[in-house]
Amino acid sequence: MKILVLGGTKFLGQHVVQAALDRGHDVTLFNRGQSDPDRFPDATLLIGDRTCDLDKLAGDRWDVAIDTSGHTPLDVSATVDALSGKVGHYTYVSTASVLSQPVPFGADETAPVEELPPCETCVVEVTDHNYAAVKSECERIVRETFDGPSFIVRPGLVVGPEDVSDRFTYWMRRIKFGGDVLVSRPDQPVQFIDVRDIADWIVRAGEESFEGTCLATGPAEPLTLGEFLGECKRILDVAAYFTCVDDAFLLEFGLQPLQDLPLWIPREQEAFMTLDCTAARDKGLRCRPLVDTIQDTYEWDMGRPWDVPVNAGLTLDQEAELLTTWMDRMDRVPA
Ligand SMILES: NC(=O)c1ccc[n+]([C@@H]2O[C@H](COP(=O)([O-])OP(=O)(O)OC[C@H]3O[C@@H](n4cnc5c(N)ncnc54)[C@H](OP(=O)(O)O)[C@@H]3O)[C@@H](O)[C@H]2O)c1
Repeated sequence: MKILVLGGTKFLGQHVVQAALDRGHDVTLFNRGQSDPDRFPDATLLIGDRTCDLDKLAGDRWDVAIDTSGHTPLDVSATVDALSGKVGHYTYVSTASVLSQPVPFGADETAPVEELPPCETCVVEVTDHNYAAVKSECERIVRETFDGPSFIVRPGLVVGPEDVSDRFTYWMRRIKFGGDVLVSRPDQPVQFIDVRDIADWIVRAGEESFEGTCLATGPAEPLTLGEFLGECKRILDVAAYFTCVDDAFLLEFGLQPLQDLPLWIPREQEAFMTLDCTAARDKGLRCRPLVDTIQDTYEWDMGRPWDVPVNAGLTLDQEAELLTTWMDRMDRVPA
């Protein structure tokens, strides 16, 4: 099949391209040529900015388009217009974050989503505040204006090799360092998906012309934070000791969920980590064993410099200060 990947040289897009090449497809990438342009010598690279160079797509046709880099309604709308009649199937990579807060426990695709106020549908600047509503509007544009079958994928947290966000590698690095490790509630559910599993499935969505919308996260079986951390410790085989602090303590010190202490989410928001992905599983989404994701991500991370600041999580100094404060308070609790 001829597959056009809009993006394709960063984290998820790279894995989509690799999966498509591994499955024998003829792959074209469309991006600005700024992020790792030589990464895929076996794919065709069309250089252009999707905000203003869509005419570069005029001279060809594809069976499938996979859009990993559609971040604003204007860009997605222009891309869908440019590709209507030129591609047979359009997959848009959205996010599970489109779900309205509070997310119900076990939410599926029928749960309500954030919406942009009509006056903001031309929004060009995406912020943490409007990200969910902007992606939801991009979904609507693909669903309603592409002139063929389209599929919307809503991934949860995507993790694995090449993930430079450090929202997953934090735990491996920290546990490997050993000693007393500050962790949040161990009974919190956690969900994430290995980038290689979702990338492979996104390619199959094009091959099999999936339609509709699917939440997509893993792992295969329900998992708690405590089980995940225990598995990291077992695999890394280190002497690390977990000190569990509560949500109120982390919030008191202004820690941002998922970012300042990766995978942590306060109890009142934890339903976001209980998404029901039955629809995706029914369409063949499979998640590799957790041990493979942890091991492979750790091995990839070992190849990166360890003396540069990471992009998420606590520094050792911040963690030590929090641990000292927590232990002081525990000592003062009356018997
Ligand atoms: N990571 C997660 O946990 C997570 C979770 C849920 C959903 N998602 C979704 O997954 C997607 C992430 O995709 P990704 O990892 O591949 O990263 P991305 O940052 O969305 O896309 C980067 C790619 O797009 C290209 N690009 C950026 N701006 C461009 C422009 N103006 N014109 C043409 N190409 C452009 C980049 O190449 P150049 O720089 O060379 O142009 C690069 O190839 C996003 O849609 C995100 O919303 C991610």
